[in-house]
Amino acid sequence: MSSGKKIKLGQFFTKATLWLKPQVQKFIKNSKCKISYDPFAGGGDLLKASEEILAFNDTKGLDIDPSLEWEINDSLISIPHIDNAIIITNPPYIAKQSASRKKIDLSLYFNSSTYDDVYLIALDKMLLAQKYVVAIIPESFINSSFKQKNKIYSITILEENPFEDTENPVCVVCFDSIEKNYNEIKIYKNDVYINDLASIQKLRLEPNNNIDITFNTLKGWLGLRAIDSTDDKTFINFDFKENFNYDWQNNIKVSSRHLSLIDINVKKERRKEFIDRCNIIVNQIRQDSADILLTPFKGNTKKGIRRRRLDFRLARAIMEKAYCEMEGKNRYEQQRLL
Ligand SMILES: C[S@@+](CC[C@H](N)C(=O)[O-])C[C@H]1O[C@@H](n2cnc3c(N)ncnc32)[C@H](O)[C@@H]1O
Repeated sequence: MSSGKKIKLGQFFTKATLWLKPQVQKFIKNSKCKISYDPFAGGGDLLKASEEILAFNDTKGLDIDPSLEWEINDSLISIPHIDNAIIITNPPYIAKQSASRKKIDLSLYFNSSTYDDVYLIALDKMLLAQKYVVAIIPESFINSSFKQKNKIYSITILEENPFEDTENPVCVVCFDSIEKNYNEIKIYKNDVYINDLASIQKLRLEPNNNIDITFNTLKGWLGLRAIDSTDDKTFINFDFKENFNYDWQNNIKVSSRHLSLIDINVKKERRKEFIDRCNIIVNQIRQDSADILLTPFKGNTKKGIRRRRLDFRLARAIMEKAYCEMEGKNRYEQQRLL
């Protein structure tokens, strides 16, 4: 496969069947559909798995690339309906920004959509065509603004990578097209049930922007390691800048995202307490959400755990919460003294 097509058409084929977790198999079986349908058929790996593992006798593949010898269809424009079929696919993922950076013209699709990645456009077309859809898509979907999330049956986050040639963190989303509340949507990590989508989303903190916080400034006193390292020893954390073995002076830029030097007005004698509170809050969010609220980062740790990144929006919200908790405690202590 040419590397040009790989990027332009998102041609990353799904070699392993790691995505076929027991709950996904059960969903496919319970749909009682007779045909496995892949409108982005590529190497045909998902159709092969449908025949060999899921025992489908009938399969149907479409693709835009004539060299792949499927029936040709532009499935980002429309997908023909097939009676009794379930879509099982891995659509192309190409973000609008990355397409324009690489000078790939996808305006045909993006001009008639508000979405910023073709896989979201693909999901819309699939849900127009079929009631049951199983899609392997980026894990960032969970925090996306996709408008039909209420038609999801379950989301399974995969820690292992089902692709041979990309490390993009992915999940398997099963849609049954029945409109429901988020507390009925099940979230799994690998084959373990974690929680429902509503409970996970309730854990999300949003910043109020009511405290001055500046990221990536040499005036800062507070260091933030925003990405887990691969060694299973160093995780996302806040600490005094001196406690990082890092040359802040020469490395901090406006665009820094891995390590940041932060300025926030906290009295010197209370800074240790502030840092401890920030770390307790971030670790609590990680534990309660099984890490789902943190952005997945390419590649796993040596033990095979998905690395995570703390984006600055959530980092800001955590610092605001820690700050308010400290102020609240102050007020409480003052009241006690009166
Ligand atoms: C990620 S691959 C899917 C591979 C396949 N599902 C598998 O597991 O082997 C995406 C496929 O979608 C095809 N594709 C890209 N844009 C398309 C479009 N607009 N309509 C139909 N197929 C498209 C690509 O040619 C590629 O084969």
